[in-house]
Amino acid sequence: MGYSVAIDGPAGAGKSTIAKQIAKKMNFIYVDTGAMYRAMALFFIRNHVGADEKEKIETVCKEAKITIEYRDGEQVVLLDGENVNGLIRTEEVGNMASATSVNREVRKKLVSLQQELAKSAEVIMDGRDIGTCVLPEADVKVYLTADARVRAKRRFDELAAKGETCDIDKIEADIIDRDYRDMNREISPLKQAEDAVLVDTSCMNIEEVVETIMELIRKDREA
Ligand code: DC
Repeated sequence: MGYSVAIDGPAGAGKSTIAKQIAKKMNFIYVDTGAMYRAMALFFIRNHVGADEKEKIETVCKEAKITIEYRDGEQVVLLDGENVNGLIRTEEVGNMASATSVNREVRKKLVSLQQELAKSAEVIMDGRDIGTCVLPEADVKVYLTADARVRAKRRFDELAAKGETCDIDKIEADIIDRDYRDMNREISPLKQAEDAVLVDTSCMNIEEVVETIMELIRKDREA
């Protein structure tokens, strides 16, 4: 097992933005586990599997060939060899990923892929169950969160910057729904690991969050 940093937290807390920057500074590999659940969700959508079809999900997920590659330092998720990075960042795929990630077989398959990646490299991995389940022995664990309204506003600004019109109240309602589902599912629900440090980013900018976590890593490495 290489050195590992686990970042967990709800949707929109800034996990991927922060983890990417830290990966660059520290020369770690950034592993975005949400992207894997999203690729799996895309596979279900393409195969007309409904979010509530438990048995179909369990059979169909075994057929999905999800692999990870790194190109110019960027994580690329391949679904049956096709780069799907550009197709998985939609609300539809995100909601489907949240709904289908409750499934035991889906989790088993993706968790083992994630653990494999962490075996051979120094990683910073983000998701919902990294500190609690995927990498329980991670060297540094952070639980990153922010108020639902703040997270909705960040998502709204992101979409607006891409020229997409959207309703901030709807985004906030979706975020609250997704949090509820992620925190209340039976298998590996989103929760702060006992040994994780809580970082609330509601009133912090990106640099401040990066610096806070870098400081935790420095201290750990000195110890
Ligand atoms: O971080 P994200 O929004 O890309 O994740 C999409 C969904 O995938 C999220 O709502 C729950 C699920 N997920 C998970 O169950 N476990 C993870 N480690 C990462 C994501």
